[in-house]
Amino acid sequence: GRVLSVASECVPLIKTGGLADVVGALPAALRPLGWEMRVLLPAYRRLRGHLGAMREVWREPGLWGGEGVVFAGEVEGVDLLLLDAPHLYDREGGPYNSAGGDWPDNPQRFAALSWVAARLAREGVGGWKPDILHAHDWQAGFAPAYLAYGGPSGVGSVITVHNIAFQGWAVAGMLGALRLPREAFHPGQLEYYGGLSSLKAGLVTADRITTVSPTYAAELMRPEFGMGLQGVITARAGVVSGILNGVDTGIWSPEAEPLPYSARAMKGKAANRAALCAEFGLAEPAGPLAIVVSRLTDQKGIDLLPQVVPEFVAAGGALVVLGSGDPALEAAMRGLEQRFPGRVAVRIGYDEALSHRLFAGADAVLVPSRFEPCGLTQMYGLRYGTIPVVAAVGGLADTVIHASPAALAAGVATGLQFHPTDAVAFGQALRQLVALHADPKLWAQVQRNAMAHPVGWETSAAAYAALYDGLAR
Ligand code: ADP
Ligand code: GLC
Repeated sequence: GRVLSVASECVPLIKTGGLADVVGALPAALRPLGWEMRVLLPAYRRLRGHLGAMREVWREPGLWGGEGVVFAGEVEGVDLLLLDAPHLYDREGGPYNSAGGDWPDNPQRFAALSWVAARLAREGVGGWKPDILHAHDWQAGFAPAYLAYGGPSGVGSVITVHNIAFQGWAVAGMLGALRLPREAFHPGQLEYYGGLSSLKAGLVTADRITTVSPTYAAELMRPEFGMGLQGVITARAGVVSGILNGVDTGIWSPEAEPLPYSARAMKGKAANRAALCAEFGLAEPAGPLAIVVSRLTDQKGIDLLPQVVPEFVAAGGALVVLGSGDPALEAAMRGLEQRFPGRVAVRIGYDEALSHRLFAGADAVLVPSRFEPCGLTQMYGLRYGTIPVVAAVGGLADTVIHASPAALAAGVATGLQFHPTDAVAFGQALRQLVALHADPKLWAQVQRNAMAHPVGWETSAAAYAALYDGLAR
């Protein structure tokens, strides 16, 4: 079968978060299962250079102030469709914002992407007719809606929620301008707290709803996590499923690092640890060397670090933080570095190569998220024998087996979970981490378990394929 995947990000072309990793990984994961996937993305300024090597396959006049032209071709291994609409996407800045904040015409920019997606799904493009339209997050939320409101199409639709916090809000007055039917403006369809939400539009119109972990699927039906959409999702519980993300085990592999190691030959990890400490001017700690690789935002619980790090450092631990985001949190991280020279190091920025060195060299990765739809860094941690210490929410709860006395006795533990996401529980988990690290035999066992835990795409790809099969039938 054929799937048209619609998203705003896709590795290796454009990325702000895990969404891009997942959108970029799905085509290769699904191909062996008989599903051919093409990805439709906006031709942002930095992607326009690829257009010359692609072929024009579609023209869409009247696309919110200009023409849209779709180009097709394989770019950096991705079977890609690029929507070129310079009046919407050819700008200096990120996909959603510039230094001055969100683009004010984001509703139109992503309505345009979704409009073209629905058109291509219905009509086919260059002889390629999809069976399934797969929309990701609020940016593609209107795609299933345009498809549904356009009448029967024979194309099945799926929307995946990667993060419910971003809902694609627009004022009610934009209904007509966004080409949405007036009669659908009621709470059961498009109306959302007096306005519009492209994510809600997708959730009420898609044939299937998925999210990126089973626990997050259940959490989304509760007010603490649903962020206003819990009722919408609960009402459609029968078509909701949680499918865990995988990671690219070719890229995320300790055997592929410059100082390689594996579960059977762990010596290389010590060399990575020493190199990492040297790179950051840290004294090699007697206790665990922990890392954080994350967007620095409230979601990720980064504000808890200043409360737990002093005790962790006093107990022999050390910490390296790599991330960027909220200026107040960046400042707080810099503050920690100044307070604990030689024990805490901070790198503000985005650096993929460095993130590999961090996972290879560290003993533990900390993920104290308040909510986490799936999370990828705890899975990198498992792969590298870098023990994840995670808040017991969403995909973190689904991927890490807590080192309880029973799990340790049974020999299945892969990391530490704590609950709730606060400084008390996090501090307690770090105390447990220090104790575990001080017991070399137990530590080695947990590392082995972690490294043996499957984090690839196989199981999840099969789940998506089964979902598509059910819809295409
Ligand atoms: P989210 O999408 O919510 O940010 P995920 O854990 O799903 O969280 O994905 C984040 C991705 O971005 C991971 O691949 C992670 O390694 C990467 N990442 C985040 N911050 C940085 C950074 N500062 N440098 C390098 N990679 C980063
Ligand atoms: C979102 C979530 C993250 C998830 C990623 C990919 O960014 O915050 O938990 O792993 O999407 O699905």
